Amino acid sequence: MNTSLKDKWVFITGASAGFGAEGARHFARAGANVVMGARRVERLETVAAECEQAGAASAHFHELDVACTKSVNIFVDWLKTLTPKLDVLVNNAGGAHGADTVAEGKDADWEAMVQSNFLGLMRVTRACLPLMVDNPGSTLINIGSIAGRVAYEGGSVYCGVKAAEKSITQSLRLELNGTGIRVGTLDPGLAETEFALVRFKGDAAKSNKIYEGLDPLVAEDIAEAMIWMATRPPHVCIDEILIKCTAQAAIHKTHRVAD
Ligand SMILES: NC(=O)c1ccc[n+]([C@@H]2O[C@H](COP(=O)([O-])OP(=O)(O)OC[C@H]3O[C@@H](n4cnc5c(N)ncnc54)[C@H](OP(=O)(O)O)[C@@H]3O)[C@@H](O)[C@H]2O)c1
Repeated sequence: MNTSLKDKWVFITGASAGFGAEGARHFARAGANVVMGARRVERLETVAAECEQAGAASAHFHELDVACTKSVNIFVDWLKTLTPKLDVLVNNAGGAHGADTVAEGKDADWEAMVQSNFLGLMRVTRACLPLMVDNPGSTLINIGSIAGRVAYEGGSVYCGVKAAEKSITQSLRLELNGTGIRVGTLDPGLAETEFALVRFKGDAAKSNKIYEGLDPLVAEDIAEAMIWMATRPPHVCIDEILIKCTAQAAIHKTHRVAD
């Protein structure tokens, strides 16, 4: 029997935009209690209101910077005042900063990517596991990327941290074997969110170019996959999902139509 999300507790990191915000709205529609964290609290407030409208059992938000252990611990202490157990954790917060070659790379970009995608995932998972270990059938979804599977020029650190995400996911699945927690990675390809705008530091012309001449994935495509992973029967663990838009056959081969 599939797992119902009704009244389940779901925590999504990076829920102020993109996959995280759309994931929150999808879990809300399924009747879950949705808990959201990100740095832009005003955005979270809007998403929480949308979740309530959509039918969430409840919607909660709090400032969270996954790059900071103190912020993660404050967040999870607050989370524990809402619920003693977590049914779904989506480690989604992250993204790319810059697209420089290694030769041109900037420390600040590298550090931001390592802190959010890699160490952030570790910190949040460590803090949340006590709320999941006595809850067989709970689901831990890490958002990886096609970039963690195939490297590309200008992507060294981003590809590296997403490759690390895959190793962490595998280690966790081994460490948690016997607890009944399902651990999986959800790896999107080219998807139109604020991802490219953040990567190119607000340069809209540059970020729009990434999506020119093709139909990229949208946040809803990834949110639907989150729901699917979390609603499998408790004996089923979805280890890995790779989702690409049809026009992206591989990281270096995308079919684009000129206007
Ligand atoms: N879009 C793509 O093509 C694509 C493809 C593969 C994988 N991904 C991955 O998917 C995930 C979501 O990205 P997206 O495409 O939805 O991008 P997005 O629209 O830019 O959303 C990124 C989210 O992550 C949050 N975030 C970033 N750093 C954070 C930090 N230090 N602490 C807390 N929250 C933080 C942002 O919130 P605040 O800024 O408010 O903190 C925002 O809510 C990322 O892990 C990304 O690497 C994206």
